Amino acid sequence: MQIFENDSEISLEEFKEKFSDYGHITSSLSRDLTGKIIIEGEKISYQADGLSPLFIDINKSYRYHQKTFVKRSKYKDPMARALGIKPGNNIESVLDATGGFLADTLLIKSIGVKNITVFERHPIPALLIKNALSLNPIEGIDFHFSDVYECNKKFDVVYYDPMYDNFNVKAAPKKEMQILRALECSTEKDDKVFDHLLSMAIKRLVVKRSIKAPPIRENPQGSILGKSTRYDIYF
Ligand SMILES: C[S@@+](CC[C@H](N)C(=O)[O-])C[C@H]1O[C@@H](n2cnc3c(N)ncnc32)[C@H](O)[C@@H]1O
Repeated sequence: MQIFENDSEISLEEFKEKFSDYGHITSSLSRDLTGKIIIEGEKISYQADGLSPLFIDINKSYRYHQKTFVKRSKYKDPMARALGIKPGNNIESVLDATGGFLADTLLIKSIGVKNITVFERHPIPALLIKNALSLNPIEGIDFHFSDVYECNKKFDVVYYDPMYDNFNVKAAPKKEMQILRALECSTEKDDKVFDHLLSMAIKRLVVKRSIKAPPIRENPQGSILGKSTRYDIYF
């Protein structure tokens, strides 16, 4: 892995020193990772081989969701319906078990959930999440660089977006997903994850799937369909 600060290459040690307050995240980065970390001022992006750099732009995501929710009620969004959010019936706490590049967390926050706890165990997405939240702190987002198995609290809703094979063969996977695949970010396919997540959910566990993919556990109690996504709901 290479690291560039304002177009000059720096060593991993220099990077770790510069971002030493990122603690365990920077100490988990290894030279064996592929791609480039790019620093411009305080902003950190990541560039996977053959792709353009990625930065988590919290303000841009917020603006996008706000604009969408002016045109169409947020309660009609498949994510809001999957989480069980209705007018006068908000959800206090959500666990986003698989943070990735925070896209779903920011959607859930924009819908109006007050407290979201986010877990991500791979150091590259974790680095970008930590950097984005340092540049744009958001009240009510509590980020943990850790395996979600370490979490044993209760949340109104637990949200799980596992890595999955590309079932929608016509569409190329989004850049974010291509990066996570290049980084070999995986999710276990066994029942243990599912059971652990279900045990933390007070109201429901929501599992995001590609619309054509089978459910990760049979007979969900409900499903909400989006354009290319399906949310399976388990109590
Ligand atoms: C499909 S991505 C999630 C994308 C995310 N929902 C978004 O909107 O950007 C799955 C992510 O979960 C992380 N992950 C997988 N298993 C995990 C676990 N047990 N604990 C924490 N993170 C995990 C992977 O490293 C990967 O970044």
